[in-house]
Amino acid sequence: MKKISLTGIKPTGDLHIGNYFGAIKPALELANEYDARYFIADYHALNTMKDPKELNSTIRQVAAGWLASGLDPEKVIFYRQSSIPEVFELTTMLMAFTAKGLMNRAHAYKAAIGENQSKGDDTDAGINMGLFTYPVLMAADIIIFDSDVVPVGKDQEQHIEMAQDIAQSINANYKQQVLKIPQAAVQENVAVVPGLDGRKMSKSYGNVIPLFATEKILRKTVMRIVTNSQSVEEPKNPDESQIFQLYKLFTNKEEQDALASRFRNGGMGWGEAKEELFRVINRCLSPMRERYEAIMADIPALDKILEQGAQKARPIAAATVKRFRKAAGVD
Ligand code: ADP
Ligand code: TRP
Repeated sequence: MKKISLTGIKPTGDLHIGNYFGAIKPALELANEYDARYFIADYHALNTMKDPKELNSTIRQVAAGWLASGLDPEKVIFYRQSSIPEVFELTTMLMAFTAKGLMNRAHAYKAAIGENQSKGDDTDAGINMGLFTYPVLMAADIIIFDSDVVPVGKDQEQHIEMAQDIAQSINANYKQQVLKIPQAAVQENVAVVPGLDGRKMSKSYGNVIPLFATEKILRKTVMRIVTNSQSVEEPKNPDESQIFQLYKLFTNKEEQDALASRFRNGGMGWGEAKEELFRVINRCLSPMRERYEAIMADIPALDKILEQGAQKARPIAAATVKRFRKAAGVD
């Protein structure tokens, strides 16, 4: 039997190239050797997105993004989290085995608290229970499909470790393997894609290069990459430039060596380097953008694909819940 790969993306905004290289691409590569289950984490997004129109549309954008990036719904079980009610039943069961202290240590929660404290606000200001219990819902997403590997960016590793902790304490309690213990699959060479300002590319920093922007907007965005004040003539260190880090994602070794020597030799200004970067990004993204626009032009067809995925996913999810209920004496 093939092993199972599972991952989800929160539909909280436009997909960017950090999402593509950190999550979508490695996940699609794994789908060649694993039984893959990929989904739209829409109830995770509800924690922060309270505008119904916006959430409704980002759900479709992220789904179309997966398909435009090459996800084959015949091969991969592809669905919306909200279409699998068993996930929420399992979440409740996992809660009973999740130490509150474990949640207190979650990076996202700690960051939210830290921010409140530094502003002198109440510690819990603006923090809902969805954020606090986020890792439990994520553990349920993973565990319910007997996942072996979870392809994610480095920032998500802690959540996978928490899912392991929770599943292990359940197996230990019932002295049997009720739940499978998942492993994270972090691609080390693209672990963190830098954004326009050199920090991690992230919606929350407003430093992203969108995956499906028009060519015009893509070009404008690339031109906004922050650089230092070195003159055209000065030799530049490619390893210290996010332009070069981004360029590496879209090119082969030969192209990388060629651009690196232009950096080192001097004579190439930042504007020119950005033009080169735009060219290779656009070369890669143009065909994807065309597919994306075609998918977004037929939302009913897209919804049908997601619904068919949910039909395939639910019996698998139900079997895990049943197994757990039996072990727990709630059968
Ligand atoms: P954002 O930080 O923009 O809010 P998300 O947290 O929604 O992005 O990330 C969705 C997926 O994309 C996760 O698996 C995450 O690890 C991955 N990811 C996001 N940004 C990057 C990045 N800059 N480099 C690598 N992977 C990333
Ligand atoms: N927490 C992930 C993120 O912010 C999204 C996610 C939700 C997820 N459930 C998951 C990822 C299960 C992998 C597996 O990016």
